[in-house]
Amino acid sequence: MSSILPVFWSIVGHIALALFFIVLFLLLGVYFIYTLIAIFRGAAYVPTTHARVARLMDLAVISPGEKLLDLGSGDGRILLAAAKRGAVCIGIEINPLLCIYSRLRMKFFGAKNVTISQANFWDVSLADVDILTVYLIPGRMGQLKEKVFAEMKSGSRVVTGVYPFPDWQPEKREGDVCLFRVP
Ligand SMILES: C[S@@+](CC[C@H](N)C(=O)[O-])C[C@H]1O[C@@H](n2cnc3c(N)ncnc32)[C@H](O)[C@@H]1O
Repeated sequence: MSSILPVFWSIVGHIALALFFIVLFLLLGVYFIYTLIAIFRGAAYVPTTHARVARLMDLAVISPGEKLLDLGSGDGRILLAAAKRGAVCIGIEINPLLCIYSRLRMKFFGAKNVTISQANFWDVSLADVDILTVYLIPGRMGQLKEKVFAEMKSGSRVVTGVYPFPDWQPEKREGDVCLFRVP
């Protein structure tokens, strides 16, 4: 019996290790596939730097209760900062692993009034959004401008990180972060 036990635990150890690597590769596979989908539909995940998030918040001038939507919310850092200022926050993120991670972050930091949905933001209506935050690649900004003009109400704001809209004059600018007001 005593000679069987080490063999038994060795088998259990090998199975556990194999399961660990299977789960790891599955997660990496899912992440990779959704990164490709994000590249084709918007932009890959590159988080906004904390310095830019601060500038974004300065320009947004959030009043408590305003509805802020982050298009492609990544790890949720913009939602966290906006929730601290009293915004009702919505994150739309295509990558389910980033959705899970950012929801856990909201719980960890005790952020209130934050909803994160796994969806393609091109299918989401912007009709009742007061403040839209965006960090996408230049090639998507023209298409997004059309969506913003078609759906957002007059007077609502859009704050862009790094890449602004083409042929639309920002109301304010702090470095490469711009505030636009929907006409
Ligand atoms: C450049 S990152 C910005 C992340 C976050 N907003 C930030 O500023 O830290 C773009 C994010 O948009 C997501 N994304 C890209 N295309 C999308 C789409 N069509 N619908 C929803 N999310 C999308 C990506 O997965 C990625 O997390």
